[in-house]
Amino acid sequence: MKKTEYIFANGISDTELTPMLSQAADTLRRGGLVVFPTETVYGLGANALDPSASASIYAAKGRPSDNPLIIHIAHPSDAERYTEVTPLFNRLAERFMPGPLTVVLPAKSIIPKTVTAGLSTVAVRCPQNPIARRLIALAGVPIAAPSANLSGSPSPTCFQHVCDDMNGRVDVIIDGGECEIGLESTIVALSENGEATLLRPGRITPGELREVLPELKISSAVTEALKEGETVLSPGMKYRHYAPIAPVVLLKSEEKARQKYISEQSGKIAVLSYSEYADEYRDMPCSVDVYDLGPSCEPDVQAHRLFYLLREIDKVGYDRIFAPLPSKDGVELALYNRMIRAAAYTVIEINK
Ligand code: TXA
Ligand code: MG
Repeated sequence: MKKTEYIFANGISDTELTPMLSQAADTLRRGGLVVFPTETVYGLGANALDPSASASIYAAKGRPSDNPLIIHIAHPSDAERYTEVTPLFNRLAERFMPGPLTVVLPAKSIIPKTVTAGLSTVAVRCPQNPIARRLIALAGVPIAAPSANLSGSPSPTCFQHVCDDMNGRVDVIIDGGECEIGLESTIVALSENGEATLLRPGRITPGELREVLPELKISSAVTEALKEGETVLSPGMKYRHYAPIAPVVLLKSEEKARQKYISEQSGKIAVLSYSEYADEYRDMPCSVDVYDLGPSCEPDVQAHRLFYLLREIDKVGYDRIFAPLPSKDGVELALYNRMIRAAAYTVIEINK
C-alpha cells in the first residue's frame, strides 16, 4: 500500500495551485504515480519516458500488459519529439487540439516498450483541462496515462470515484472536480500510407473528423464484438470494459414498450432512463430504482452522466440494469460503444 496524498485543486487560485502542481510534477519525474483530471475522464499518470514508472501503471490498475498507454503532451507541437508526425496529424491538431482527441502514430525509439506494449505505434493526446496541461508542462516530460479506474470498471469522472479505485495504489490524487465530457477521448489511427481509422468514438464525432479526414474509416470494433481469432487494431477493444457488477441489458424499442417490458420483470432492478420518462418508472408497481441519464435529445448530458451513474448503481447493488440502446449518430456513437460493452453485447429488441 502506498500513502496517497491529495491535492484539492478545484476552484483554487493559480498562485495557490502552482506549488502544489510543482510537487506533483516532481513526483512524476521521480517515477511516481499521479492521478490527474482531464476534460474526458481522470488519468493515472507516470513519466512516459521512464520504463519502470510506466510499467507500474499496469500493476496499479491490474491492466493486461499488452494494452498500450496514451502519452499526454502539453502542446501539439511536442508530438514530433515522440512520434513520426504526418501532415494529417498537423491538420487534426490544428482543428481539435488541445481537446478530447487521441492520435495513433508511428513511435520514435525514445518511447519505451512498456508504453507501447511492444507495438511500433504510440497514441498521443494533448488535453484541454488546464490542470492537466500545467501538470504536464511542469513535469517537462510526456505523461503516460490510461483512465484511472481498476481495469474493467467504468472510467472515473469525479474525485470520489477515483479514490474508490486508486487509494493506496498511487502517490498523489489531484481533485479537479467533475470531468466535463465524462467519456474517454476519440481515438484515430493514422497510417504511414495516409489511411485514417476511428478506433474509439468520443465527444469529437465522425462527422467532425470527416471535415479534416474525408476518407475516415470506422473500425468494426467500434460497434461490433470481436469474432473468434480476429485481431484488433486497438488492444483495449478486446477486453470486457466499462462493466458494472450487475448485468446490463440494453432494450431496443419504443419507450412505451420498454416500460411495459421492465414492469413485467422481477428482482431488484435499476433503470437508466431519459429524463422525460423518469417519473413513469418511479410509478411502477415492481421494485425499480430509476437513474436519470439526461434528456433524450442531449447526448452530451448523457455522456457526462453515464459512467458516474454506472458506478453509483454498483454501490447500491442490483440484479439487473436496463437501459435504452442509443443510436449510432454523432456523440451517441460514443454512448453506443460504451454501453454495448457494459452490456457485454446483450440487446433485447422488443416489438410491440
Ligand atoms: O480520454 C482519454 O483518452 C483518457 C484520458 C486519461 O486521457 N485515457 C484513456 O486511456 O482512456 P485508456 O488507456 O483507458 O484507453 C486508451 C485506449 C486503449 O483502448 C488502448 O488499447 C488504446 O487506447 N491504445 C493506446 N495506444 C495504442 C496504439 N498504439 N494503437 C492502438 N490503440 C492504442
Ligand atoms: Mg480505460
